[in-house]
Amino acid sequence: MSNRKLFSPWSLKGVTLKNRIVMSPMCMYSSHEKDGKVQPFHMTHYISRAVGQVGLIMVEATAVTPEGRISDQDLGIWDDAHIEGLAALTSQIKPYGSKTAIQLAHAGRKAEVEGTIYGPSAIPFDEQSRTPVEMTKEDIKETVQAFKKGAERAKAAGFDIIEIHGAHGYLINEFLSPLSNHREDEYGGSPENRYRLLREVIDAVKEVWDGPLFVRVSASDYQTNGLDVADYVGFGKWMKEQGVDLIDVSSGAVVPADINVFPGYQVSFADTIRAQAEIQTGAVGLITNGLQAEEILQNGRADLIFVARELLRDPYWPKTAAKQLNTTIEGPVQYDRAW
Ligand SMILES: Cc1cc2nc3c(=O)[nH]c(=O)nc-3n(C[C@H](O)[C@H](O)[C@H](O)COP(=O)(O)O)c2cc1C
Repeated sequence: MSNRKLFSPWSLKGVTLKNRIVMSPMCMYSSHEKDGKVQPFHMTHYISRAVGQVGLIMVEATAVTPEGRISDQDLGIWDDAHIEGLAALTSQIKPYGSKTAIQLAHAGRKAEVEGTIYGPSAIPFDEQSRTPVEMTKEDIKETVQAFKKGAERAKAAGFDIIEIHGAHGYLINEFLSPLSNHREDEYGGSPENRYRLLREVIDAVKEVWDGPLFVRVSASDYQTNGLDVADYVGFGKWMKEQGVDLIDVSSGAVVPADINVFPGYQVSFADTIRAQAEIQTGAVGLITNGLQAEEILQNGRADLIFVARELLRDPYWPKTAAKQLNTTIEGPVQYDRAW
């Protein structure tokens, strides 16, 4: 058993991760039948990382409504017919000791599917993008219910953890940011109003889900008059009051912006939200080395380490990180001779 914090267990509400490594959600655009269903590729892709000893495998942004897909090849959870494939996925990941999470998503104005697209206001993302239709209160109500139904289906499919996608300029993020939300009703204007959709989604999900709940946020819009980490400290306090367990701290993508990207470029946001909103956080963004991950955890800057692209390059990254930290981890029993 390693004495490194990266390889220490993390427990919440009866779910124990064997280490602090999370496979960050990554859309694979591989639901080739365009019906949102799990394909053989998804099984191979996610199970490989479970064999690679990732503590928590988070399944990519999974759409709660068909019009909330980024592309028509996104995974979906808008219909009971999606449960079977997702259940096969969770049941085949778990024997390798990884826990499973799913990111529930609605792309809002960034949906690239055919037909009408929706957002808080009729403002396109950029000049090349389509203009969304401003959601009515009825549309909002239906969307909140879609997140709730998605959570119910995620539970039926056997997921251990649910994450609500509130980042990267998708629907919930569009409501949060004053750059994309110009509404004049109770869903726009003040921070309380812009937070209202997320508040309702969290409350609705919690009616059917009592397991660990994460929310991913974009902690900076990187734009004058946009949101920054101080705004997310405020939102973080509200999320904590509502019973969210961890904020997965990403940034950007609500409007086009130049972002200075460097190793660990979003870690300070996770650190600030953790310290000031007093809630657990996940750090993500160009974390590629075990030493870097260990530094973040030992200095109390985050509780979990989300790794995206490095896990695409190296499905066995936990083992690589262990080597970098001069320690060893156990592999699947089948690999005892080689590991
Ligand atoms: C191919 C790809 C797909 C992604 N899809 C999602 C997604 O579904 N949901 C999400 O929140 N972030 C998504 N992201 C962002 C990653 O989760 C992560 O936040 C980002 O890549 C930075 O981490 P990294 O430097 O470890 O790659 C995606 C990134 C990549 C490269």
